[in-house]
Amino acid sequence: MKIETLRWTNNKLEMIDQRILPAAFEYLAYDSAASVAEGIRSMVVRGAPAIGVAAAYGVALEALRLSSAPRHSGLDPESSYSKKLDFRFRGNDEVEDFNSDMEAGFTVLAQSRPTAVNLFWGLKRMRGVWESVKGQNNSAVAERLLAEAHEILAEDIRINRAMGAFGAELLADGARVLTHCNAGALATAGWGTALGVFRSAVEAGKKISVIADETRPFLQGARLTAWEMVQENIPVTLITDNMVGFMMACGEVDAVVVGTDRVASNGDVANKIGTYMVAVLAHRHNIPFYVACPLSTIDMSIASGADIPIEERSVDEVKGFRDYHWAAEGVSIRNPAFDVTPAELVTALITEKGVVQQPDREKLIELFK
Ligand code: MRU
Repeated sequence: MKIETLRWTNNKLEMIDQRILPAAFEYLAYDSAASVAEGIRSMVVRGAPAIGVAAAYGVALEALRLSSAPRHSGLDPESSYSKKLDFRFRGNDEVEDFNSDMEAGFTVLAQSRPTAVNLFWGLKRMRGVWESVKGQNNSAVAERLLAEAHEILAEDIRINRAMGAFGAELLADGARVLTHCNAGALATAGWGTALGVFRSAVEAGKKISVIADETRPFLQGARLTAWEMVQENIPVTLITDNMVGFMMACGEVDAVVVGTDRVASNGDVANKIGTYMVAVLAHRHNIPFYVACPLSTIDMSIASGADIPIEERSVDEVKGFRDYHWAAEGVSIRNPAFDVTPAELVTALITEKGVVQQPDREKLIELFK
C-alpha cells in the first residue's frame, strides 16, 4: 500500500487524519493557510518533513483563495466574470490587500508548531518564490506557488529514497532495529526518514526486524509506526517506552534509527520526547544510535540544542488518551513534546548527501558546501 500522507485533489490539499489512525483511515481537505495551520497544530499532519510540505501547500492555497475571490468587487466570487478578473483590472488597494493577506497566511502557518525547523524551511522557500514573482498577476503568483509546493513534495520523496539507500548500508542482514515515534511515510511526503531506511534495507534484500516503542503520550509508535510496518509486512514488535532498557540489556537491539525535528549546528538533535532516554541507553549498551536527517532539518543558525524551542502541548494528552482520563484530578502535569540528544550520543546522521559519523560543527558546515 502506497501511503500518500498529503495529496492534491480537486484544488484542495488532502491530508490523512493521523489522529484517528489506525482505527480509521480518512482524508481531510484544506483550502486556506489558516485551515492548514490548524491541521498542523491539531496533529492531523505531523512529523517534521510532512509539516514543511503542508506549510508550503498552505501558502499556495492562500494565494489561490485570495486570487479567486475578489474581495471588494461585490461580485459573487464564483461567477464566471469574477473568475476572469485579475490583477490588471484591480486598483493598488487590491494588490496591497493580497500582499497583506498573504503575510497573514505566512504568520498563521509559522505559529502552528515551534520545534520542527522544516516548517520554517518550507515557509522560507515559499517566500523566496513569492518574492521572485511579486508584481505578476495574482493568479500567476498562485500557480507558481502551487508548482513549488508540488516540487517540495516530490523532492521530499526523492530525498527520503537517497537517505534510505545510505542508511540501509549501516544495517546488517538480520538486524533488530529500534525506533522511537514515527519517522515514516506518514511523517513525510512518502517513504519516510528512519522508516525509509528500513524500507530501503528490505528492498535491498536484508531481513531486518523493527522494534517500535509506544511513544507516550501521543502514541506515534504504537499507532503509526506499527501500522506502517504491518502494512509493509516488515516484522515489527511493539513495546512500551519503559521496556527499552530491558530489551537492550537482553541483547535484543542491534541498532537504533530515529528521525529528528531539528539538528543544531553542533549536531545536537531534537526529536520526540523520550529520544534522549533511548540515546543514553543505547550509549550504555554500545548500540549505534543513528539519526535520519534531511538537510532541511539542520538549522545552522543556532549554536546548540539549547536554542531549540521545545513545544509544550496540552496536559490532556498526558492525563489519558482521547476522552478517557486516568490521572488523578488536580495533579500538576507537564507535557514537553520534544527533547534534545547531545551530539556526543549520536553515532551518525544519515542525510541525502551521505552519512556523517559523529556529527560536529565542522562536519555540518562541510555538508552544506
Ligand atoms: O509531534 P510529532 O509527531 O510531529 O513528532 C514527530 C517526530 O518527533 C519525528 O520523529 C520527527 O518529526 C522526524 S519525522 C521524519
